[in-house]
Amino acid sequence: MSSSEHQRQIWGVTMTTTTTTGVFSAAVLAPVPDETEAYDLPIVGALPPDLTGRYLRNGPNPLPGENPAHWFGGHGMLHGIRLADGRAEWYRNRWIRTDPFKGKVTDRRSHRATTANTHIIEHGGCLLALGEGGFPYQVDRELDTVGPHDFGGKLRTAMTAHPKQDPVTGELHFFGYGATPPYATYHRADASGQLVHSAEIEIAGPTMMHDFAVAENHVIWLDLPVTFDHTLIDRGMPYAWNEQYGARLGLMPKNGTEVRWFEVDPCYVFHVGNASELPDGRITLDVVRYGRAGWDHMWSSIGGQVRNGHEVVLSAGRVGGATLHRWTLDPATGVVADQPLDDLEVEFPTLNEERLGRANRFLYTVSQPLGAVVKFDTNSGQTSVAELGRDRIPGEAVFVPAADARNEDDGWLLTVVGDETGSASELVVLDASDLDSGRVATVQLARRVPAGFHGSWIPDPAS
Ligand SMILES: [Fe+2]
Repeated sequence: MSSSEHQRQIWGVTMTTTTTTGVFSAAVLAPVPDETEAYDLPIVGALPPDLTGRYLRNGPNPLPGENPAHWFGGHGMLHGIRLADGRAEWYRNRWIRTDPFKGKVTDRRSHRATTANTHIIEHGGCLLALGEGGFPYQVDRELDTVGPHDFGGKLRTAMTAHPKQDPVTGELHFFGYGATPPYATYHRADASGQLVHSAEIEIAGPTMMHDFAVAENHVIWLDLPVTFDHTLIDRGMPYAWNEQYGARLGLMPKNGTEVRWFEVDPCYVFHVGNASELPDGRITLDVVRYGRAGWDHMWSSIGGQVRNGHEVVLSAGRVGGATLHRWTLDPATGVVADQPLDDLEVEFPTLNEERLGRANRFLYTVSQPLGAVVKFDTNSGQTSVAELGRDRIPGEAVFVPAADARNEDDGWLLTVVGDETGSASELVVLDASDLDSGRVATVQLARRVPAGFHGSWIPDPAS
């Protein structure tokens, strides 16, 4: 072995660990080598006592010795922090025991062959770790894996990592997409978690559909020009910008299958903030939108392939070039109005999910250039910013309603914050109604949490 290698026991297997190069060599993305727990975590400030439950977050974490070419390629690892009565009772991290993690993949086309590394939600009493390449994997409240979840055999496609739970009906709307026809399939599960509806969507081609939108009566599909390219299969993530593909938004009634397509300027959207229906029948769709240059910057910085000889080098982990944008779809005219909402580079939009699909005033994002959590007021167009330090890298800020909430922004924002040196991370709690006042509380974690994707606040079950 060279001096940069050593042996380590992981999941009962001796593995050789090498110094990581490539996208996972960035300190903010570098995987942690093992699973651990810590108890009674130190707190600076005072945790709101109504924050009793678990904050769970998912992200890619290759095993020691593995070095995927793309950030999206690492096995899913969950990080959990248990808060109760003003205390931070525990932290733990667990890999999700997917088939690929266990080395059990015999068929790469199996929906069990997925990293499940993107999100974690609770629906119908199940915690589901999600990655759009396959089935969800169910886990328990201690983050141990139960197994793949195919809705009792009814789910025959992959499942997006961005399902939408209707706050009124409790239904879960989601889809699966893939590289071969049908390129997308719409699914709906009832509030108890039973899959009750699946329908193929007519779509132009193999777009990378990471997210979609749900309004009160409609579903909106994103058919955008980042598409599957089989020539890239051995180069990490086989998706690239496709200038010839065009860009469309598809409006579909929730209970129908017919999609009406609206042309928009070429762009890419990983994440939807929200959609809602105006009294005059128009529909607004707020998104974080990349133009071609911003996409190339971001995609190459996380290991993706960029065409046309673009020479783009950014420090890995920096997500750049995307801004908040509003589309307004007018079914009467077939025209979409384009409106930039703000010029700050942001990602990971969240909201008070009690407003999902309905009119909302506030969106929350993170701005990596500012090291800040940002609140955007769609009424006034104003932003307020909680700066966490220029060297700090906040992850997605999840909104948790306060116990006595009266207004949309009465609640807390929870974000795991790291830095570029690899020092220990923090769970930061902000007052969503008053970002300017800074941190409400900071839970100090014993070690770093690699930058990841999405998470959820999981309140304790009603007793
Ligand atoms: Fe996402």
